[in-house]
Amino acid sequence: MTLSILEFNYVRRLVLDQSAIVLEEDKGYLVESRLLPLARREGFTSINLLVQKMQAEPFHGLHRLAVEAMTTNETSFFRDFNPFEALKNFVLPDLIARRSAERALSIWCAASSSGQEPYSVSMLIRENFPQLSSWKIHILATDLSTDILARAREGRYSQLEVNRGLPASFLVKYFQKRGCDWYLRDDIRNMVDYQILNLSNVWPALPPMDIVMIRNVLIYFGIETKKEILAKTRRILKPDGYFFLGGAETTFSLDHSYERAQFERATCYRIRKT
Ligand SMILES: C[S@@+](CC[C@H](N)C(=O)[O-])C[C@H]1O[C@@H](n2cnc3c(N)ncnc32)[C@H](O)[C@@H]1O
Repeated sequence: MTLSILEFNYVRRLVLDQSAIVLEEDKGYLVESRLLPLARREGFTSINLLVQKMQAEPFHGLHRLAVEAMTTNETSFFRDFNPFEALKNFVLPDLIARRSAERALSIWCAASSSGQEPYSVSMLIRENFPQLSSWKIHILATDLSTDILARAREGRYSQLEVNRGLPASFLVKYFQKRGCDWYLRDDIRNMVDYQILNLSNVWPALPPMDIVMIRNVLIYFGIETKKEILAKTRRILKPDGYFFLGGAETTFSLDHSYERAQFERATCYRIRKT
C-alpha cells in the first residue's frame, strides 16, 4: 500500500465521520484506487500529498471531494426488477385506492445516486398510471454527493447505462439521443426533485411519505447507523406506507417495528400494527 497506516486510518475516520461508511482494514486498495484520480485532478503528485494536505487543514472542499470519491455510486434503471413489479402491480394500485380523496402521493428515493432509481419510478408512473397525471405526485430524490446529484439532475446517460435495465420501449419513448448520449425527456426529469441529504446526519424536515426507497446503501454502514436510519424512516413513513431496501438489506434483527410484506418475488417493509 502506498499510504502509510496513519494516512489510511485518517481517511477511514474522515469517511466514517462524514458519511457513516465503514471502510474495513483490508480496503487499502479501494481507498487508493478511489483517491488517485482525485489527487491527479487536484494537482497532487501522490495520494500521500493529498492526504497530508487534508490532515493539515480543517474540513473544506477537498475533504468533501475525498469523501464523495469513496462512495459507491453503482446503480441501474429498474435495478433488481422485482421491486418495480411490486410497485406497479400492488403498491401503487393500493395507494391510489387509499389516497383517492387527497389525490396526492409522496415518494422518497434516498441515496439515489445518478438518478436511475427515481427516474425508473417516474417512468413507471407515467407509463402505467395515466390517471395520476391530475394528482400531486412528489418524488424526492436525495444523496450525500453533490457531484452525483448534479449528474442525476442532468438526466444524461451513456449507451452503456441505458443498456442496463431500461426496456427498449422506454428508451424510445422517454429519451432523446444527442451525440453519443441519451437525454431523459424534460417532463419525466421534472417529476423528480433532487436535494442533498446525508442519511447519517440530522434529517431536514420531510413530508410524511407513502413510499420510501433506501436501497443498497445501508450495507455500507455499521449496525448503530442502520438502526438510527430505520428509526428515522419509521417516523416519516405513513402508517400504511411501503418501505423498500436493497436485496442484501433487511430490518430483521435491527428494528422490530417493521414487518416484511412479500409481493411475489419482491420484499418490502411496512410498519407493524401493534
Ligand atoms: C450503491 S448507490 C445506490 C443507488 C440506488 N439507491 C440503487 O439502489 O441503485 C449508493 C449511494 O449512496 C450514497 N450515500 C453513501 N453514503 C450516504 C449517506 N451517508 N447519505 C446519503 N447518501 C449516501 C452514495 O453517494 C451513492 O450514490
